[in-house]
Amino acid sequence: MNAIDKISDAGRYARCVETSKRVRWDIDEDVIRGRRFDAAHKFLPDGLSLADAFTTLSAEEKRFVSQIQGRTYANIFGLVERFINAKVLELSHDHWFGDQVALEALVRFSDEELKHQALFRRIDAMAGAVLPDGYRFDIDPNGVAHAVLGKSTWAVLALTLHIELFTQLHYRQSIEPDTGLSELFKDVFLYHWKEESQHAILDELEWMRHDGGLTPEQRDRAVDEFIELVAAVDGILQAQAKADAAYFRANCGRAVGEAEARAIGAAFLKAYRWQYIHSGARHPQFGKVLSSLISESQGQRIEVALAALRTSPE
Ligand SMILES: [Fe+2]
Ligand SMILES: [Fe+2]
Repeated sequence: MNAIDKISDAGRYARCVETSKRVRWDIDEDVIRGRRFDAAHKFLPDGLSLADAFTTLSAEEKRFVSQIQGRTYANIFGLVERFINAKVLELSHDHWFGDQVALEALVRFSDEELKHQALFRRIDAMAGAVLPDGYRFDIDPNGVAHAVLGKSTWAVLALTLHIELFTQLHYRQSIEPDTGLSELFKDVFLYHWKEESQHAILDELEWMRHDGGLTPEQRDRAVDEFIELVAAVDGILQAQAKADAAYFRANCGRAVGEAEARAIGAAFLKAYRWQYIHSGARHPQFGKVLSSLISESQGQRIEVALAALRTSPE
């Protein structure tokens, strides 16, 4: 790394601290403001819920799907932020006796993720208050965090950058422009996006820094571990798509036959894979950083693994 890169990296940590201070928000005062959800509104926009893929459903049923998916969206963020925060705290160790501004940036990152998890727990409870009983989200954040953190830091940072970039993309391209959404749901992701923008910059800085200390063999193994992590995410999505489709079927107010139920389950999985895997994998910044770190054949290994997640599991 040359002197100019060092100065610009230090400057980027400092900018993250400044912005983090400027945009900082409070769950009740800024985001919720005494409001409740209204079951008359959509939660997730059609571009994320893939409303068009639910070909047999009426407009009201698609709205119910967007509410189920919106609740799951908040829960998935609550889940991944458990391991992201633990990894950030671990990485902060490298800065204890070094750049104190970089340390502050990571401490603020961690503090924000703790607040976001608290926000998403509130959103789950508030969505539960206006939706039918019986919704299940049985994935244990600590169990997932233990499994993820068992992989190398390189692989965890790759997954983390991917997640924190797609959060922003979803907000800017789908949530913000949709005029038919719940204002409260929209605000949750507006405020989340404001703090996530700094996280993605820090993920990239930490990933590049960490990568610089790896041997080619370690990096090659880490590419496989990243692929294993994406497959593990897909396992979670398959389980939740099944749970959410069953909840929809039990609460949509009409009889749903086996063939239609299978189609609804497949549409949930397609939407979840789009939200949590493919939209991030296609993010230009993710592609740019990833390809700067890996070889062409390593990139092809990742491509093949991602392509396998575009077809239905059976
Ligand atoms: Fe977050
Ligand atoms: Fe984050």
